Amino acid sequence: MSNTGQANELRLPPIGFGMWDDVAQTVKDTGGRPLDRDIDRDAAQLAILHQAINLGYRHFDTAEMYAAGHSETILGRALLEQERSDFVVTSKVSAENLAYDDLLAACERSLDRLQTSYIDMYLIHWPNPEIPIADSFRALNHLVNLGKIRHIGVSNFDVPLLEQAVQLCETNLATNQVYYGLRNRKPQENGTLKFCQENNVVLTAYGPLRGGVLTHQTVVEIADRIAATPSQVALNWLIRQPEVITIPHSSNEQRQKDNLEATNIQLSESDVQLLELLGSE
Ligand SMILES: NC(=O)c1ccc[n+]([C@@H]2O[C@H](COP(=O)([O-])OP(=O)(O)OC[C@H]3O[C@@H](n4cnc5c(N)ncnc54)[C@H](OP(=O)(O)O)[C@@H]3O)[C@@H](O)[C@H]2O)c1
Repeated sequence: MSNTGQANELRLPPIGFGMWDDVAQTVKDTGGRPLDRDIDRDAAQLAILHQAINLGYRHFDTAEMYAAGHSETILGRALLEQERSDFVVTSKVSAENLAYDDLLAACERSLDRLQTSYIDMYLIHWPNPEIPIADSFRALNHLVNLGKIRHIGVSNFDVPLLEQAVQLCETNLATNQVYYGLRNRKPQENGTLKFCQENNVVLTAYGPLRGGVLTHQTVVEIADRIAATPSQVALNWLIRQPEVITIPHSSNEQRQKDNLEATNIQLSESDVQLLELLGSE
């Protein structure tokens, strides 16, 4: 097990960059229709990504669902000027596209929007009980064999589903992306974290700063005492756990920098014990 998040030979940075934001929500709500001032909006989104790249983010998390595909388009544009192999791109196929042919077609559309020949980690975004999971994995395994995706992952899977996924995946299942943070301990409580750690599956924590984490008195006090920010305390608590990485989103350059530098702080064992208590409040 490794706290840098190792999925097969893919080394995942402990802190990646999440691409779900207010713009993604707004554009999704319009079904991807062009909005007024879209060009301004694109420029603003690109600037946010350029900031993140310049600061050193090397893992970007998007999905076909984010901004109805436009998030992938913007990421593709940002990475065009970069050495592709320096970056890890995660994208996700939506629950309604999990049938064999639909999944293959969805992946082609994502590759087109991302302007790349491969996606590093391609995830089932949400399980869909209406579609046999074996069909989805047949398509995902095929995509790996074609070289269109490097690694297969899932998101929002519980332990029974993970057990099936590990069986059906012809390569090591790379990740399970779930909601996890100081204020949301479901993955600890329902066994998902333990399963991932025991099966060499990276747990990617989304929403790591949600739930009032940043203003919680314990977090703020620890941050002040060790000259860190509350976000760094919250993120470091996650990535110090074996097999856990995280993908916070921020549109602000200083906050992006703070988040990335969460790897540099050192929490004492007594502070970790204090933070553990937040889960039971
Ligand atoms: N697989 C799934 O089903 C799923 C679901 C949800 C999310 N995700 C992924 O996970 C990523 C992260 O989750 P999330 O965006 O929901 O939540 P998050 O990263 O926990 O929180 C983002 C919010 O925190 C603020 N923030 C970020 N850094 C901060 C800092 N240092 N100090 C103060 N505020 C800060 C941001 O505002 P500013 O931008 O103003 O800084 C933004 O409002 C998403 O972007 C997406 O890629 C996946």
